[in-house]
Amino acid sequence: MIDIHSHLIWGVDDGAQTIEDSLAMLRVAAETGTTDIVATPHANDRYEFDRAELETRVEKLREASGGTPRIHLGCDFHLSFSNIESALANRDLYTVNRLRYLMVELPEMLIPPGIDRALEHLQDAGMIPVITHPERNRALSEDVKRLDHWIGIGCYAQITAQSLEGRFGRTAKNLASRWIEGGQAHFVASDAHDMEARPPRLDRAFQMIAEKHGEAEAQRLLQDNPQHVLDGTELPYARRSPRAGKRRLRFFK
Ligand SMILES: [Fe+2]
Repeated sequence: MIDIHSHLIWGVDDGAQTIEDSLAMLRVAAETGTTDIVATPHANDRYEFDRAELETRVEKLREASGGTPRIHLGCDFHLSFSNIESALANRDLYTVNRLRYLMVELPEMLIPPGIDRALEHLQDAGMIPVITHPERNRALSEDVKRLDHWIGIGCYAQITAQSLEGRFGRTAKNLASRWIEGGQAHFVASDAHDMEARPPRLDRAFQMIAEKHGEAEAQRLLQDNPQHVLDGTELPYARRSPRAGKRRLRFFK
């Protein structure tokens, strides 16, 4: 399995605090069947995103862990004005493996009116926004059609593995199931922060999805689609509106 959302780099956000924490998280990921994991440190008002420093830490982790699981670098990109400006000026700074997919975290309490436009701008600059854990967003849970709209304009959605177990409450659990059932979920990832409360494991989610929605669906959400994120390639089915497709053709080489 491939985990596209985790806070495993030590000392840079509210995830792992020491290199030992990071290595312990990597061990758990490997032991529970994760072959590749994307480190996605927060970039927001509280945590600075220094890609060069993060690359150095990833390299240290690769050496210390022996290369299993493989580690990739992305960002947990908060949709603030300054972040958006920065991403538009540096289109590969925040994306997974400096390719196309951008993990986007929405403000939790209120979805500002400019969000739709911001998501379009990011796509026009060549990025593919992945809305992280929409099922845990309170504002979105009261206005679920917004997610359909964003998917319609070319975004994807990533569900948190533990939401399926009820870790984030009944609403998140129900929405996660509903969106998987309805085809609005494209990825499931751990969003791991530590070893206890939010560990980097996907095995239980795989099993739950396989039982409820079929093994092919689990494979799609936890392996096949995430592989496209690592490679920066399009998911194998079209969900984009013709308008979004046209915009993308203009901006991609
Ligand atoms: Fe996160």
